[in-house]
Amino acid sequence: MSAKRPQGPAESGRARISERVEELSPSGIRKFFDLLAGMEDVISLGVGEPDYATPWHISEAAISGIERGYTMYTSNKGMRELRDELSRYLEARYGLDYHPSTEILITVGVSEGLDLALRTIVNPGDEVVSPEPTYVAYRSCTTLAGGVFVPVPARVENSFKVKAADIRKRLTPRTRALLLGYPNNPTGAVMDKRDLEEIAALAHERDLMVISDEIYDHLVYGVKHTPFASLPEMKESTILLGGFSKAYAMTGWRIGYAAGPEDIIAAMMKIHQYTMMCVPIMSQMAAIEALKSGGPSVKEMVADYDRRRRVMVKGLNAIGLTCFEPKGAFYAFPSISVTGLSSEDFAEKLLVEERVAVVPGSAFGKSGEGFIRCCYATALDEIKEALERMGRFVERHKARRPRRRRA
Ligand SMILES: Cc1ncc(COP(=O)(O)O)c(C=O)c1O
Repeated sequence: MSAKRPQGPAESGRARISERVEELSPSGIRKFFDLLAGMEDVISLGVGEPDYATPWHISEAAISGIERGYTMYTSNKGMRELRDELSRYLEARYGLDYHPSTEILITVGVSEGLDLALRTIVNPGDEVVSPEPTYVAYRSCTTLAGGVFVPVPARVENSFKVKAADIRKRLTPRTRALLLGYPNNPTGAVMDKRDLEEIAALAHERDLMVISDEIYDHLVYGVKHTPFASLPEMKESTILLGGFSKAYAMTGWRIGYAAGPEDIIAAMMKIHQYTMMCVPIMSQMAAIEALKSGGPSVKEMVADYDRRRRVMVKGLNAIGLTCFEPKGAFYAFPSISVTGLSSEDFAEKLLVEERVAVVPGSAFGKSGEGFIRCCYATALDEIKEALERMGRFVERHKARRPRRRRA
């Protein structure tokens, strides 16, 4: 019989889990979705994922590769053909000039790119300033890299755009980097070029690195996305993170890329080669096809998200959940103040009483309290049904104003 391993602190008294990992809190989204498991007739506006399958011609490119025996490792940096395609794509779409052999690295989604970028530039105790509400991984990956996450509240009064003046107030001699994510998850905000230029000037003045997560770059509605690296003097201090998950409906393929200055990409490669070796070749082949001929499919999906966005925003406002108009990604982020409930209570009660799953705003940091995130990458019929259920819920839970006593 094998001896049982001791649970908790070993006899030496030493903790088995590192302090850095102990410090992480579980994702507010995952925690909430555990509740959902096993429930029936739930409409999910929760998970941030396209409801489309990957366009077939993209999947076929991977299948054809497997049939032809392409099942091996690739270059650590990623297949040269894919880096060439990406270099051409970034030039054609944004006028950005990245050399395929030294300035582009293929990563396991933006998730890996984010982790590599932070671990590459952050020294213990360095501060990383980032707008909040914030994508759930930003804080945790900063902590894992040994950094200190410093949130800058982005307010609904400014359409959740962050201002250079607000960022400036959070800078200290320890600030190492800005971490931006626009178009934004969870708010749907898209930054104006003018605001970005002011942030770029501040980054230049204070010699900050900028990590710019642009995974939703294709998903904008009636506005233009400006890549941070395209702003004056910014290419040399920006790590651009891009992906395939959202625009091409390729979440399961786990592929993305980082583009940036040669020394930074080389340093990120050092980690990547030991931890990942390379991205699966099948995913890289699919990504090549996506860049070569995925444009029309992306256009179609974006037009469809736009239709759903309008229905969602109009519907939320009609039931009393005031919602600013999101211009990007596929999330609406309405206020729930009319109910007086905390965002966690709201989400939990809505799920139990009406079987609609949304994400509490508090999962995205303190500044998200008072809001919920509703993903509209869901069939239109489901969105309409969800709105009806939410309407009933809001009616029931509308905070009753205290009535004046008669004199
Ligand atoms: C802002 C943001 N960045 C990164 C990711 C992760 O992307 P990937 O699937 O490329 O790892 C997500 C996924 O939801 C996201 O919303």
